[in-house]
Amino acid sequence: MSRLDPPRLSRRSFLSLASLGSFFAALGTAAAGIFRLPNPAVLPGPVRRFKLGPPEQFSAGSETAFAEQNLVLFRDDEGFYAISSTCTHLGCTVARSKDGFACPCHGSRFDSKGSVIGGPAPRPLPWLEVSRAANGDLIVSADNEVPEDTRYRV
Ligand code: FES
Repeated sequence: MSRLDPPRLSRRSFLSLASLGSFFAALGTAAAGIFRLPNPAVLPGPVRRFKLGPPEQFSAGSETAFAEQNLVLFRDDEGFYAISSTCTHLGCTVARSKDGFACPCHGSRFDSKGSVIGGPAPRPLPWLEVSRAANGDLIVSADNEVPEDTRYRV
């Protein structure tokens, strides 16, 4: 062995270093997991409940589109109901048409109750839950679907 050759690592030393390295790698992984634990892996989406104002501001027979909330609120003689204006095909916003709703993206058409009458949409426009807040304002919960023809009476 010349003076420039690196010292030979014995098998015992190599295994000791490898086990020490594995120990610290496991310790680091465990520490990262512990520090990450308080943060949930899946974050809940925002609650989609919209206050739409006092019921008195909507007259019987009215329909009011809320573009930002993607819904249309109707009031008839039986009460209030809300229909989502998000197309069930790929999520475009439908517009009112003379026979109901029409999607500008791929041509789905829905009747005035949101049932599919043409195009690629796989299911009707959902009816959304209408309720009231503590201060009496109407609330629509966009995450809660209700059966068609459900009315909220005030
Ligand atoms: S997104 Fe409405 S028809 Fe495709």
